[in-house]
Amino acid sequence: MLKPELGIYIHIPFCKQKCMYCDFVSFPNQEEKQAQYIEKVLQEINQEKEILLKYQITTIYIGGGTPSVIDSKYITDILNTIKKVANLENLENIEVTIEVNPGTVTEEKLLSYKNSGINRLSIGLQTTNDRLLKTIGRIHKYQDFLNTYKTARKLGFNNINTDLMIGLPTQNLKDVKKSLEEIIMLKPEHISVYSLILEENTPMERLVDQGKLKLPSDEAERRQYHYVKNILELNGYIHYEISNFAFPTKQSKHNCNCWEQKEYIGFGVSAHSYISKKRYSNTNNLNQYLEKNLNEIKTINEIQNQESQEKEYMLLGLRKLDGVQITKFKEKFGKNPIYIFRNEIKKLVEQGLLEIDLDNILLTSKGLDLANLVWEEFI
Ligand SMILES: C[S@@+](CC[C@H](N)C(=O)[O-])C[C@H]1O[C@@H](n2cnc3c(N)ncnc32)[C@H](O)[C@@H]1O
Ligand code: SF4
Repeated sequence: MLKPELGIYIHIPFCKQKCMYCDFVSFPNQEEKQAQYIEKVLQEINQEKEILLKYQITTIYIGGGTPSVIDSKYITDILNTIKKVANLENLENIEVTIEVNPGTVTEEKLLSYKNSGINRLSIGLQTTNDRLLKTIGRIHKYQDFLNTYKTARKLGFNNINTDLMIGLPTQNLKDVKKSLEEIIMLKPEHISVYSLILEENTPMERLVDQGKLKLPSDEAERRQYHYVKNILELNGYIHYEISNFAFPTKQSKHNCNCWEQKEYIGFGVSAHSYISKKRYSNTNNLNQYLEKNLNEIKTINEIQNQESQEKEYMLLGLRKLDGVQITKFKEKFGKNPIYIFRNEIKKLVEQGLLEIDLDNILLTSKGLDLANLVWEEFI
């Protein structure tokens, strides 16, 4: 019998320095804890042998924080442990991604990733403007990104994502245009473009509140977003999720699986899992993660019944540009989503936020700008 599919997420919570806008669970200057941390992650993977053997592993995603800040031998240890515990001969048919930051990788590190089975890189750039990079607290310049990118290509990495940001303080449309022009020339297979979220209690929020940094207006930010969408589509990228663009067949499998409500297991501090209709998360506290017994670090956040699972399927699916496929919904839940969510869909269609195509329920272009209003209906 065919095993069900499972994605694996590994969280590496270390960074060289904290960026001003970031509230991810990541800690600067904790070199002395790295060896102990990896040891604990390996123990966690070993403990879940039974689950890992029950499934077919389809994706592995090593995210952070900055996974490339730690010694590459730790990344090799993690992947070798997964292979051993999940009984995988090699990682060739699995999408294996690592997030890397310019300024933290060398040719040796990239080569080591390649030899360990990593076949996809996600490079955090944000903007090609050095002044802006400094304003938002990045440790690198554009040239560092170029060095990393070119070395990765030289070593044969043929699936590379670049993260960009829009709506940054002092960023204008000219800056966005220039970043895009420079990145498009390099032809990365995938580009993520995130609108800044001004997170609570970040240095950036304080500076904006104090009037020391000025954000572009909402209208200016939307103009940047529309520009990004048009220019990337013009250059052959498919806009497949609110913030994600890819050449055909190069969509991130890891992310697509999450938006299609497929199962995944997370290892490391703050990592989330979704297995057998239950959502779990590991503690966000690094010391607790290191010190507590493995059976004390996980909390169940939600046990889904059919109704909550259906609502969540809509919520996740409506992040994708092709939305929720009615046939797939019927196959999964045995019901027509148009009947179940008749009131919500009717209201959103009348507001011009949602449309029903032949077999898909999807955001309109107005809905793309006001997606939060759509998602609210399915919470
Ligand atoms: C998990 S982060 C870490 C990746 C890597 N450490 C880096 O910064 O290059 C992935 C991406 O999320 C985006 N991001 C982080 N904080 C954000 C925020 N407050 N608003 C919007 N995007 C954010 C950035 O583009 C970042 O590259
Ligand atoms: S490097 Fe990435 S994870 Fe670390 S602080 Fe910056 S944005 Fe956050």
